Amino acid sequence: MTNAQREDYHASLEIAGAPDLKLVSKLPDVGTTIFTVMSRLANECGAINLSQGFPDFACPEALVDEVTRAMREGHNQYPPMAGIESLRQAIARKIEALYGVRVDPETEVTVVSGATEGLYNAITAAIRPGDEAIIFDPAYDSYDPVIRLAGGSTRRIAMRYPEYAIDWDEVEDSVSPRTRLIIVNSPHNPSGAILRAADMQALSGIANRHDLCIISDEVYEHIIFDGEEHQSVLRYPALRERAFAIFSFGKTYHATGWKVGYCVAPPALTAEYRKIHQFNTFTTCTPMQHALARFMENSAHYLELPAFYQAKRDHLRESLRDSRLRALPCSGTYFQLFDYSAISDKGDYDFAQRLTREHGVAVIPVSVFHGDHTDHKVIRVCFAKHEATLDRAAAILRRL
Ligand SMILES: Cc1ncc(COP(=O)(O)O)c(C=O)c1O
Repeated sequence: MTNAQREDYHASLEIAGAPDLKLVSKLPDVGTTIFTVMSRLANECGAINLSQGFPDFACPEALVDEVTRAMREGHNQYPPMAGIESLRQAIARKIEALYGVRVDPETEVTVVSGATEGLYNAITAAIRPGDEAIIFDPAYDSYDPVIRLAGGSTRRIAMRYPEYAIDWDEVEDSVSPRTRLIIVNSPHNPSGAILRAADMQALSGIANRHDLCIISDEVYEHIIFDGEEHQSVLRYPALRERAFAIFSFGKTYHATGWKVGYCVAPPALTAEYRKIHQFNTFTTCTPMQHALARFMENSAHYLELPAFYQAKRDHLRESLRDSRLRALPCSGTYFQLFDYSAISDKGDYDFAQRLTREHGVAVIPVSVFHGDHTDHKVIRVCFAKHEATLDRAAAILRRL
């Protein structure tokens, strides 16, 4: 062991309850996620929690009934590794109806335990030690740690503030011989920006010219506003053949705690993907899969989501129109960004903490999504809440 290695070793984490056992941390800079931190603080302070992204209303009762029914019918043992057949078929039917492409449920659809697992498997399948992955700041927080766990490194490109647009020339200039993967997310958490057809064409050109893999995080596919159409990678044949598309039932059916999602990818990519899935979680909760398969028969549940969430977005923006918070554009997701620079010159982390502790409204500081902690003095507000919850919060925020 060299001195440098010994130093690394001693700087390593101590395992609670086993004081002699030391691990060299693979993620020394990673702490508890901001979502956990702010939700915990919200609970401690009795604050209205508009921080973490989950609804404060119930998921459909009929869906809960389907889970109970599936359990009573005896669907309580391991399902097939890739997901039950009827759910994979329902997913394939939905994709054909929405995105005009036929996917094979046998070889191209894998049910996983939430998009978080979905992303983990895809990144692990794509990245080998020494590879680089391009992600866009502000970025969902799981991408970078998983890239590093797989032995890769992250090249972070800032989206252009305040519209959070991607400069595709900069992306192409950032591609190196080691670049293997680009991760896109539309509708985008936290900004609410979306990728349009021109973005998809540009992405497709770069991916083809440099032979790159794509991961497309589409968990908010149904939460898109103002008549815009979600641009799934699955709509674009040249992208689809090199992409893992990741989806989440949690966002679609107001059931974030269920952690059920799926990945759609061509057969060769899916074969590698399933090798990781089978030794990660192996399978996903059986009765939930049966319930979702039946529930998906009625497309109204997801087709009505744009109008449902657009009304909440508009309600929140309208309630704060006369406040000193400036709403940024929001084309999708259930998050609205606000510039608070007319209220305070504090950093966004301090501002969010103060808002929670002193005023009783918990929000997320957007700088935590930036690798370099760029602080535009912007907070993220989750509007997947009852109107009454939004009204109570708005009454407080209007007084700031
Ligand atoms: C952009 C994005 N990707 C992935 C996820 C994870 O989804 P799941 O809860 O299905 O693991 C989330 C959840 O907030 C998200 O916002």
